[in-house]
Amino acid sequence: MNNFGGNWTESKIEILVEYAKAYLSIMNIYATKYKWKLLYFDGFAGSGFIKKGNDESQKIIIGAAKRILDIDNPRSFDRYYFVEKESENANELVEKVISNYKNKIIDVANTDCNDKIRSMGNFLRTDKGKKYKVLAYIDPCGMQLNWKSLVALQELNVDAWILVPTGMGVNRLLKKDKRISDAWLERLEVFLGLPKENILDYFYSETIIPTLFGDEVIINKEEKAVEKSAELYQARLNELFKFVTNPYILKNKSNSIMFHFFMVSNNKNAVKIANQIINKYNRL
Ligand SMILES: C[S@@+](CC[C@H](N)C(=O)[O-])C[C@H]1O[C@@H](n2cnc3c(N)ncnc32)[C@H](O)[C@@H]1O
Repeated sequence: MNNFGGNWTESKIEILVEYAKAYLSIMNIYATKYKWKLLYFDGFAGSGFIKKGNDESQKIIIGAAKRILDIDNPRSFDRYYFVEKESENANELVEKVISNYKNKIIDVANTDCNDKIRSMGNFLRTDKGKKYKVLAYIDPCGMQLNWKSLVALQELNVDAWILVPTGMGVNRLLKKDKRISDAWLERLEVFLGLPKENILDYFYSETIIPTLFGDEVIINKEEKAVEKSAELYQARLNELFKFVTNPYILKNKSNSIMFHFFMVSNNKNAVKIANQIINKYNRL
């Protein structure tokens, strides 16, 4: 069972489910007319259940997988593809959730999501794949999503909800004194798809103070580094997809921003609907 989450865990799933229902209602008309196949892809599927809180006040939340599989009205997806890297989670997902949906076509891959996103991108470019419309949910707990993987989805018929660990991930690697280890710099490069020089220039500036014994260089880290990382990621997403939503902002109990949750699409109306849902949850 996965163990994490503030209130955002529930909201994030509610946002996804609300969007999936709207998506399926619209696709119910068009998919039949144009003979499209609908695929739901979940890149970080988890065990099916989320344990929240400590032993005294523990709560079990039903994960997104089951919530999506339960949608049948006005229609369901034609196929489902779940990816989960941890064998224990993948097994639990199959045993406790997937095995109850014998009437649905479901694949579970116990591997790295980045590989499967790339395979999906390749598949969607084939003649068979061109018939598919995809709703994707990319819900990592940290910085496991590589930028290169998203590039594989460029220009495709994919609406993807992407959880970006701005406060939880990027900001934690950006040390105040700029002394970032090579391993962390490499992680930032792979995650943002940018060379380290650009990343450092974006988040840091220098002030030179002349002193009696020579110039002193003061390193300044961007004050609003979390928000700036969200802006950067949003702009990067916009290089791959025509439309990107505003983010749903996920904060912890001390009101610190942990994640930003975006939806991307090449369809204007899709992002309009997603923004309406996001705005509603941001106001709650
Ligand atoms: C935030 S949880 C997912 C929760 C899930 N979406 C739900 O609603 O229940 C993230 C999951 O991703 C898995 N994971 C971590 N790195 C991964 C990777 N590179 N590829 C696929 N899954 C990964 C973790 O084992 C964990 O179960």
